[in-house]
Amino acid sequence: MSGSREVCAGVHWVGAKHPELKVFDELFPTRHGTTYNAFLVRGRQKVALIDTVKAPFADRYLETVRSLVPLEMIDLVVVNHTEPDHSGALEKLLLHNPEIEVYCTRPGENFLKQLIEAPMRTHVVADGEEIDLGGRTLRFVLAPYLHWPDTMFTHLPEEKVLFPCDAFGAHYCADGLFDDEVPDFSSEFAHYFYTIMRPFKDKIREAVAKVEGLDLSLVCPSHGPLLRRDPMDAVRAYRRMAAAPPSTGAKRALLLTLSPHGNTRTMAKAVRAGLEARGVEVLERAIIDMKDEELRDEIERADALLVGTPTINRDAPPPVWKALSLLSSVTPKGRVGAVFGSFGWSGEAIKIVEERLLGLKYTLAAPGLSFRFRPTEEDLQACRQLGEAVGQALSDEV
Ligand code: FEO
Repeated sequence: MSGSREVCAGVHWVGAKHPELKVFDELFPTRHGTTYNAFLVRGRQKVALIDTVKAPFADRYLETVRSLVPLEMIDLVVVNHTEPDHSGALEKLLLHNPEIEVYCTRPGENFLKQLIEAPMRTHVVADGEEIDLGGRTLRFVLAPYLHWPDTMFTHLPEEKVLFPCDAFGAHYCADGLFDDEVPDFSSEFAHYFYTIMRPFKDKIREAVAKVEGLDLSLVCPSHGPLLRRDPMDAVRAYRRMAAAPPSTGAKRALLLTLSPHGNTRTMAKAVRAGLEARGVEVLERAIIDMKDEELRDEIERADALLVGTPTINRDAPPPVWKALSLLSSVTPKGRVGAVFGSFGWSGEAIKIVEERLLGLKYTLAAPGLSFRFRPTEEDLQACRQLGEAVGQALSDEV
């Protein structure tokens, strides 16, 4: 689907719709495809493009832009974010008009030099910098890590529009363009936040603070419907979803176990006793009982993560790997770790999981413990000491 559409005075949508997309970036399943939103903004003196589209849609994008204005008339293109779903048509655009100035952040410029082979005139913007297009102003708001180091928002104050690139988006494609023209997509909006934005909650809070005082009539994210029904609702939702996790003030350990025959869980009880003896608040849970979102929440709240795992076929079993895979999707409060577990034939999982934690910048409070089958009283004493070592590591942090 192609073709432009005026979204407010002086601004046209020139993006592309991709309704048949099943998995975005080969990572995130999309039930309703996605859109690559891009815009053309006209002032009296200058014409600007805001973002481009994914490479397979480049010709369609250029055709849409051309239907509004000759490419030779484009003065600048704002690259709010360099990821190829938004910069994929930039090279073709610049080949048609090498005079176009590319407005981006410093990290954005660095990334574009790796992505674009065409000659490119760049203008690196400062936070709050403005360019007057002639009666319409583009103001740049740096928003690093929403969700790449290069990201920024562009504000068009005269029309009360914010172009925040990926932020406030949703992978959702419908016949309509605006949120009041499409069915409810709130679950896609939330899923997008939790899978793409969530690892950067502290950066989200900083970016939200920069825009929540703006007077906005329209928020134009680069994926999904344009938000005009209550534009600040998305900003408030990000404020809410990016809130810092609750804290009781006490040090907190998340103690996860997978225990097919109960032996690793027996070890966990002794580990827990050691932690509690050192004043650590402990949440002990079976991995298989936790949904992804709960696990992410608890990883964010925990000062320490302890993993009790068996070894099956010389490896940690899939549920343990699944839990470990979520660690990089959040920002843990603390990164003290420890690993333990019972095994039958061999005990490789302990070292394997330790390596995974070390790779994610955790510090191991003590060497991992692995015992064959049912732990003895002596083994349980070692487990208790492991818990105490974690407690001591947390005390040493203060
Ligand atoms: Fe939609 Fe981060 O690209």
